[in-house]
Amino acid sequence: MSKQTEIRRKTVRDIAAAKGGQPLVCLTAYDAPMAEIMDPHCDVILVGDSVGMVVHGLPSTVGVTMEMMILHGQAVMRGSDQAFVVVDMPFGSYETNADQAFLNAARLMQETGCQAVKIESGAYAAHQIEHLVERGVPVMGHVGLRPQAINVVGGFKAQGRTGGERDRVMAEAKAAENAGAFAIVIEGVAEDLAEEITRAVAIPTIGIGASAACDGQILVTQDMLGLFDWTPKFVRRYGDVRAGIEKSIEGYAADVRARRFPGAAETYKLSKP
Ligand code: KIV
Repeated sequence: MSKQTEIRRKTVRDIAAAKGGQPLVCLTAYDAPMAEIMDPHCDVILVGDSVGMVVHGLPSTVGVTMEMMILHGQAVMRGSDQAFVVVDMPFGSYETNADQAFLNAARLMQETGCQAVKIESGAYAAHQIEHLVERGVPVMGHVGLRPQAINVVGGFKAQGRTGGERDRVMAEAKAAENAGAFAIVIEGVAEDLAEEITRAVAIPTIGIGASAACDGQILVTQDMLGLFDWTPKFVRRYGDVRAGIEKSIEGYAADVRARRFPGAAETYKLSKP
């Protein structure tokens, strides 16, 4: 029998054990260098289907494919070695039935080496979650604002504003937990609902635009780094990388046009024999 390799990464048990304790630190990543930078600081790295909007310039996450998630998932796994890595199941990869969900989740795990998948979990998805967990796939749920459903909702709108919506979001969270999800992302809901859900479920809740009442927080990394001109209300900017990139590119363009780059230091010379 081959020697068991040591697991250095955080596991699903570490994440589940964080319920009610120190908040879980989670960020998105889509490539190896960014994963490497955030890895020592994060409990969870999510290869979110937000990659479609953030990296590929799509208007929503609906156009994201399995192939995109696999490519970005592989890069993030190569760049990290201690965080727990979750890869999003894209729109159309799990909704049809439990068999479709398992085949695609297994493909994500086998081809990327990720430790879990995330499913935007309307009530219908409970069956899929149960099916995956029974077959060895850890699942993170995702309730509240579900970006893959924006065409039904009519935009990126906060959820849980009416009594009926609140009941639905709460029921979806409980259904995900009962189906075996190890954690749930709660996106775009008011603080009191996030607090109620966090109290009602025994698994960690990870908030994005869902207040400090959750057991952890996640943001799209490029949003918090300040890569875009506009960010939603719930994002705090921890950097201004757009200005830094613009300044660097302006400097490069000016140097090339003025023949200041490349200079002697950046030029190969034939060494004398
Ligand atoms: O796709 C994503 O990045 C996400 C986070 C916003 C939670 O689902």
